[in-house]
Amino acid sequence: MFQGKKILIGITGSIAAYKTVLLVRELVKQGAEVKVVMTSAAKDFVTPLTLSTLSKNSVTADLFENDSWANHVMLGRWADVMVIAPLSCNTLGKMAHGLCDNLLLAVYLSATCPVFVAPAMDDDMWHHPSTKENLKKINDFGNHIIPAEKGELASGLFGDGRMAEVQTILATLQSHFNYQKELSGKKALITAGPTYELLDPVRFIGNHSSGKMGVAIANELVKRGAEVTLVLGPSNVSVDEKKIKTFHVTSAEEMYEVCIKQFPEMNLAVMAAAVADYTPVNTFSEKIKKNDGNLVLELQKTKDILKSLGQIKKEKQLLVGFALETKNEAEYAKSKLKDKNADIIVLNSLRDKGAGFGTDTNKITIFEKSGAATTYDQKDKALVAKDIVDVIVKNIYA
Ligand code: CTP
Repeated sequence: MFQGKKILIGITGSIAAYKTVLLVRELVKQGAEVKVVMTSAAKDFVTPLTLSTLSKNSVTADLFENDSWANHVMLGRWADVMVIAPLSCNTLGKMAHGLCDNLLLAVYLSATCPVFVAPAMDDDMWHHPSTKENLKKINDFGNHIIPAEKGELASGLFGDGRMAEVQTILATLQSHFNYQKELSGKKALITAGPTYELLDPVRFIGNHSSGKMGVAIANELVKRGAEVTLVLGPSNVSVDEKKIKTFHVTSAEEMYEVCIKQFPEMNLAVMAAAVADYTPVNTFSEKIKKNDGNLVLELQKTKDILKSLGQIKKEKQLLVGFALETKNEAEYAKSKLKDKNADIIVLNSLRDKGAGFGTDTNKITIFEKSGAATTYDQKDKALVAKDIVDVIVKNIYA
């Protein structure tokens, strides 16, 4: 399964390191060439001798060994992939802040290959705001996080923070290597985030969309080889603009203008933005001053971008819309498929916890024009994006 792959394993100080011994064994068994770098704290849990025997390579831990300098740059460049498992809270913090006080961190900082991390910590540490912030940071740096699981912890407590099982790590690596550039040569247009409809120079009508779901889909499409254009409303989500051509817009009208212009060139479009349905008839050029009476705002309908693209869609173009509902979810989603001439509608229900705006997770049902409807478990938005793109790939070649 991993024949000829060069895999660099980084081990940090955590009891979960015992699982990494099995991971190394399994990777070697499946044909990978494995090298191991460990921190000195990791040596308290598993020995370099065990790992060098299993990996059939010498294990390095120090920047200087036997008077010679360990070439961390070459190790980072040698690997097809680096996997830090377990990732302790301490090393996570250092990765998030660019610290470099051991060989493992030097290798990580100079690695040119994709880096996967499998965090392991106790429940309280896992839920600490600094852990969340650091994970977000290293995720934004482009590292791949193999989420910790719920289960029995070294402390004897039951909770979150248990390192992913060896089989999960192997499956993640396998799907990384198997990733086919199925969408090579395809052009994709994505909308994401909210829109802001200006009332006056300081106020707007907006919504709570973060843009996370749309950006996750854009990232996934890039991974599958598509050339991606993103039209992003006001959002704090970071976008790798070297890989994704990004138009930053504010209002529904601006988003519409860009989409209408770009769509004819596209093979597929995913409308994940939460576009305002109404916009003020008048935007005041000066700040609206309060007075004694009520303020009545007159709103007019915005252009429905998804529907407009549905009207000009050519036979070979694939159009994906979203539906966020609070009741009669399936019924509304199916009618959106038809009304907007979409090929796929991704439904999230606000009745599901962990779905919708602002969260890191989502829970979706995908409705296809063929009549198929598939409901998925609640997942991290990056994994939800993978499910959505799987369905896109299936439909685009149908
Ligand atoms: N959409 C759009 N342009 C708009 C409004 C919505 O492109 N002006 C897109 C969204 O990006 C999403 C889908 O349409 O893909 C959502 O459909 P919509 O009918 O707007 O959903 P709701 O706002 O939930 O509709 P309703 O208020 O009718 O339930």
